[in-house]
Formats: sequence, structure tokens, C-alpha cells
Amino acid sequence: MARNKIEIRHLSKVYLRNHRLTQALQDITLNIREGEFCAIIGPSGCGKSTLLRLIAGLQQPSAGEIVLQQEDPNRPPTAMVFQEQGVLPWMTVEENVAFGLRMRHLPKAEIVRRTDGYLQKTGLTAFRHAYPKELSGGMKQRVSLARAFAVDPEILLMDEPFSALDEQNKFLLQEELLRIWSEKKRTVVYVTHSIDEAILLGDRIVLLSASPGRLASIETVPLPRPRHIETIRTDPRSADLFLSIWQHLRSQVQHAQGASSASNA
Ligand SMILES: Nc1ncnc2c1ncn2[C@@H]1O[C@H](COP(=O)(O)OP(=O)(O)O)[C@@H](O)[C@H]1O
Ligand SMILES: [Mg+2]
Repeated sequence: MARNKIEIRHLSKVYLRNHRLTQALQDITLNIREGEFCAIIGPSGCGKSTLLRLIAGLQQPSAGEIVLQQEDPNRPPTAMVFQEQGVLPWMTVEENVAFGLRMRHLPKAEIVRRTDGYLQKTGLTAFRHAYPKELSGGMKQRVSLARAFAVDPEILLMDEPFSALDEQNKFLLQEELLRIWSEKKRTVVYVTHSIDEAILLGDRIVLLSASPGRLASIETVPLPRPRHIETIRTDPRSADLFLSIWQHLRSQVQHAQGASSASNA
């Protein structure tokens, strides 16, 4: 069995804003294995983005710890793909994809090789000189994907990267992501609020409870790879898994709504 890539131990995060404490995450213990595609799902506000920022080292835990097993000091430990605003508007597509490589002072030939490779893998070669404002939302997310993969991070962190896209574009990008991921099998932590997406993409699905986010359960997705939307949709195992995740989420969302209407009363 693959070794642990990310070890999260008794992790808690409390925010202080305007003299108010918000407990975003509470006592999360979770190991994510090398090469695993781990989907994280939970109701809005349960601390999913907080968890990714903590893994990225952009924020510090209030309690507990996160240990990343970095194997190659020359590779960045993590790269993040956000829902939107991940591309720099004043740079062309090509410059956006190359940006992280330039920041890391890679040799020019290597920058060109990787940039060309990921432009091609994401279908962006014809748009390499375009600026983000000339691109659709789906194309912009392709740029974000290409940029994140190009720096060759040990861990890819993705925060609802396709949730602002229309459904057809989302399907296409999910399949592209799976195809690129399957070439090198990096460790991925993928936050989503879509059950279908978690089942299509994930090796395991981590369910978080409503605020504060606690670990509610971990489901293993029993579906073979490569996966395609058509086969996943018709597989009875995915229907069973969908139902069990939805039953959990429904109770959590109702719980969260009940709590907020009680506090507004
Ligand atoms: N920088 C911050 N300061 C104060 N509270 C925050 C901050 N970031 C997030 N929160 C709060 O922490 C909780 C979890 O937020 P977040 O991680 O964004 O959840 P999710 O991504 O699951 O929607 C929410 O109650 C949110 O309002
Ligand atoms: Mg979020």
C-alpha cells in the first residue's frame, strides 16, 4: 500500500474576527496516501477551503498538525487551483502557464518544454497568445489547471475548480483532469460540493459535518479507472454511493440551516 503523503492529526482551526470566534474545523485526523485522489465534500461553510489553505501552509492550525511527506526538495510541495480568479489578467495564456516555472527560475528550455506540453494537454495551444478576458470560463480554468500541473507539485489542491462552469464544460474538464492526473498520479485533494463530481473523481470521499467541520465519514469509491461520465452514471454502485452520501449531506445541511435560523431568531 502507498505511504501517507499528508498526515493530518487532531487539526482544529478557530478564526477571530470582529471579536467573534468561529470554529472552522474541529479535531480532524486523516491520512491521505501518495498518489491518492481524495475528494472532500461537506456543506457550505464547513471549513473545506480552510482545510486546503492549512495544507498549503497559507494559514496555521489553531491546534493539531499537518505533516507533508516531501520527497523531492526541488519540487514545490503544493499548488492550488481555485474556483476563479486563478489567472493573471495582464498575462497571456502562455505567460500564465509559464509563470510558476519562471518564479522557480527553471532553465528556459525546460520552461518552454513544460509550457508547450501542458498547453497541448489542455487544448490551449491555439490560444497561447490570448489574454484571459478573451477566454470563456472553461478556457480560463484550463489555464489554471495547466499552470498548476506545469510546476509539477507533489500535491495538487483544488478548491471547487469547476463549480462556476456550465455543466457541459464541467464534464469536459473533469475528464481532462482525470486524463492528465492518470499520467503521473500526483496526490490530489479536491474540494467539491457536488456528490457526482466526488464519485467521478475520487478514490476516497471524505465527508465533513456542518460547521464546525468534523470528520463525519470516509467512503471508498468502488469504481474502476479509467472512469467516464457515461459509465459512472449507469453503474449501480455509484447510485448506492450517491444515496448514502446524500443522506448524510441532507441531514448536515438541514442541521446547519436549523442552527442559523435559530441564531437569527
Ligand atoms: N479569514 C477568515 N476569518 C474569519 N472567519 C473565516 C475566515 N475564513 C473562513 N472563515 C469562516 O470559517 C468557516 C469555514 O469557512 P470556509 O473554510 O470558507 O468553508 P467552506 O469552504 O467549506 O465553505 C465559515 O464560518 C467562515 O465564515
Ligand atoms: Mg470554500
